[in-house]
Amino acid sequence: MSRRELMQPLHILEKKVLKTLGKIVEADIEALSRASELSIDQVRRAVEWLQAKGLIQVNTTQKTLFTLGPKGAEALKEGLPERRLIQLLKSGLNNLEQLKSRFRDEQEFSAALGRAKRKGWIKIVDDYVELASEPNKLPEEEALEKLASNHSLDEDELTKDSVLYNGVRELQNRPNYISRKIVKSTKITLTDLGKVTLERVSEQDEIDTLTPEVLISGVWRQKPLRAIDVEAPAPPIYAGRRHPVQLFIDEVREIFISMGFEEIEGPIIQPCFWNFDALFTPQDHPAREMQDTFYIRGEASNYADRESIRRVALTHKDGWRTGSKGWGYEWREAEARRLVLRTHTTSITVKYLADYKPKEARVFTVGRVFRNEKVTFKNLVEFHQIEGIAVGPRLTLRDLMGLLSTFYKRLGLEKVKFWPTFFPYTEPSMQSVVYYDRAGKWIELCGMGIFRPEVTLPFGVKNPVLAWGGGLERLVMMKYNIDDVRELYANKLSWLRGSPICQ
Ligand code: PHE
Repeated sequence: MSRRELMQPLHILEKKVLKTLGKIVEADIEALSRASELSIDQVRRAVEWLQAKGLIQVNTTQKTLFTLGPKGAEALKEGLPERRLIQLLKSGLNNLEQLKSRFRDEQEFSAALGRAKRKGWIKIVDDYVELASEPNKLPEEEALEKLASNHSLDEDELTKDSVLYNGVRELQNRPNYISRKIVKSTKITLTDLGKVTLERVSEQDEIDTLTPEVLISGVWRQKPLRAIDVEAPAPPIYAGRRHPVQLFIDEVREIFISMGFEEIEGPIIQPCFWNFDALFTPQDHPAREMQDTFYIRGEASNYADRESIRRVALTHKDGWRTGSKGWGYEWREAEARRLVLRTHTTSITVKYLADYKPKEARVFTVGRVFRNEKVTFKNLVEFHQIEGIAVGPRLTLRDLMGLLSTFYKRLGLEKVKFWPTFFPYTEPSMQSVVYYDRAGKWIELCGMGIFRPEVTLPFGVKNPVLAWGGGLERLVMMKYNIDDVRELYANKLSWLRGSPICQ
């Protein structure tokens, strides 16, 4: 490796820390910060980068240190209580009561007495204390002095000196004489590669920061600019972003718009009239029952013009002028006024037909619908539907299949099948399924059909209306390879942050 190859682009902070290390050889973060005049934080960052580049080595060690406690400091000045006792005895004082008065408290005095007696320095006779032998310097006293002169003692070092060792052990038994703490320290040194790099850094003269002055003065022509390491590790940034379901809704919107559709919207709370009656769904239809539908307190007024309501009523009763026999029951307006959380977005497209009576139209809507079902891995109570209609004079079922196939294809789903089914408002009616490669199975998507005359004629719509609608979440699940719908709304941060925006 040539020297040049050894050189990796270095940040200005890295260079400063390298140079400082060259001077002080071995240091910790604080020492580097002091010597380099960089902040602790800047040194930390530089150290992390330099370490990643193999230019420095960071060794962390632990030490157990003893330092003087408040009682220890006191004893250092005045002597240990038992030493003070001996001094007092030597000065001629020997009455127990009198001796006691020279101590801070009862406790300190009895501790001094106890120790001196146990060691055989004194004898107690009645109310008097006799000095038996004067002790030499105690290990505790040695330790206190050493602690004072050294500021601290390293536990590992102690084992080398048995007097100090015993002294410290003894002092540990006395509350607040000394304290023991674990201190971590780092030692930062240059590696061989670091040393070579440092030489190069010292030799070279490059521009670290591109400033207006550098440009204006033309210095940039003479000196090289510091290279930027675009691969340097950096913390991930989690910027705000849209929810994957919202992203998918936008994708669906773009597809329909690219197919010449216009987006429409409508309220979530609907009178039964638009959710059911206008769709030729009889008033005793099981879909209307409480188990499936969330009814809302209150009732709708002015939800449709009187003539439309009259025609829908008659269509349900005997078919009105639609050529149908109707359902043959007495339609009640009270039922139509009831409010529901829409159970499907077909309520929005049928209202659009009634409002605009188009001869030709292509509209779609994406929105929330509500069904009172048990929440499971494949069912939510609140979910989204994709809904649309196409109106035109010569539209047929083939157009509908073509339309849906195109839509699925643009979502990346190539294999689509259709088969007959039943809806009260379409004839013929179909169900579509798409093949989901990753799971290796067919999945039901949109229901569809051509709106019956019982739906379109009461609102004055004469041309055929192709209609479809289906769940959105299933498509999102396929896209993200999820097999439990609930995960979409569990707000798991890892998924929300990690799910790719483009695939
Ligand atoms: N509304 C139906 C559903 O919720 C789907 C559908 C829409 C069927 C339009 C036919 C026509 O499943």
